[in-house]
Amino acid sequence: MGNKNGKQGGKLRVGVIGAGMISGSHLEAYKKDARVETVWVADVVKEKAVARANEYGVPKAVADYASVLKEVDAVSVCTPPFAHLKPVLDAARAGVHVLCEKPMSLASAESRQMVDACAKAKVKLGIASSRSTLKSDVQAARDLVAKGKLGKVYYSRATTLRRRGRPGLDFWPDVTWFLDSKKAGGGSIMDIGCYDIDILLTILGEPQPVSVSAISAREIGSQRVPKGVIHDTDEHMSYFVRFKNGSAAHFETSWAANMDGGDTVIFGTEGGIRLNPLTFFGETNGTTHDAKLNIGKWSQSPQEDFVSACVGKKAEPDTPGTMGLKVTQIIEAALKSAKEGKEIRID
Ligand SMILES: NC(=O)c1ccc[n+]([C@@H]2O[C@H](COP(=O)([O-])OP(=O)(O)OC[C@H]3O[C@@H](n4cnc5c(N)ncnc54)[C@H](O)[C@@H]3O)[C@@H](O)[C@H]2O)c1
Repeated sequence: MGNKNGKQGGKLRVGVIGAGMISGSHLEAYKKDARVETVWVADVVKEKAVARANEYGVPKAVADYASVLKEVDAVSVCTPPFAHLKPVLDAARAGVHVLCEKPMSLASAESRQMVDACAKAKVKLGIASSRSTLKSDVQAARDLVAKGKLGKVYYSRATTLRRRGRPGLDFWPDVTWFLDSKKAGGGSIMDIGCYDIDILLTILGEPQPVSVSAISAREIGSQRVPKGVIHDTDEHMSYFVRFKNGSAAHFETSWAANMDGGDTVIFGTEGGIRLNPLTFFGETNGTTHDAKLNIGKWSQSPQEDFVSACVGKKAEPDTPGTMGLKVTQIIEAALKSAKEGKEIRID
């Protein structure tokens, strides 16, 4: 199996960098995977690494991941977005596969550096997201589009609206970096917009974005921000993306809005799709019809998928670094567009 020196029964040896909230889902998934041996947990706050290692029966906890990179074949990077770049580059240089938490980075230049470094080192780079693309409805929608069942897809829309769902403010009071643009890069669009973009790009066959026009708002109860906490990120963004293939998509993302809802819809010349539940809208001999598709219900974790790529069972993780780069390009252009009040082109 994909490890370098065949120790530990040929299992893939994994390390987890960053022992905060999301590290638990990585450690849980690796614990369940018989192909994996989790070797260490690292966190700059060593007590956090020790606590996670004890919780999941991992033998080693360290403060400095660089000192133990040579002991593993793959790492999960579970640090906040401002601290993704360095561990990804360090891991690539050490010849170690990387599963990096979403959002991939603060800027497309950083995402590109990650993609290039991993390609040069010939290691896998996957982007982990709890709203995984590895679900029955997303994969079935992707197949329908790829097989041409929708005809030409000319427009799509993805919406995720939270009434009050600002991390660091409405929940998870200790994780205030989500609200600070210098640390998080952006607000709702970085935190949850990235899920909708990733899922839609997956369904549409990864079209290249060419321009974005956006508005941003932070209007809902910001007076509740505790003293000393920086909150300068978007709470709502609406953004319109044009793709190189002539198609376009509209996204609406809110951490806080006096509205609710969530939807992903694809418009094609021969048919349309709505996710959740997957429904196909069509026309036969002049009569319109729609039907919920019986696709069963399954999902796979990004960690299981990443391990499959590391051990050679598939070529790339389902959200590879190249896709993460496109997601970053859209987010970056949307934030710039909202700030400058004009459409931004993506080179
Ligand atoms: N997939 C999801 O559903 C989901 C949910 C929440 C967060 N996330 C993402 O996961 C990442 C982490 O979020 P979180 O909520 O766990 O944050 P967190 O603040 O709870 O944990 C981050 C941890 O990283 C540590 N850290 C920071 N810099 C480090 C470094 N250089 N080396 C080692 N450790 C370092 C911190 O001490 C902290 O313990 C973010 O990118 C976030 O967007 C994903």
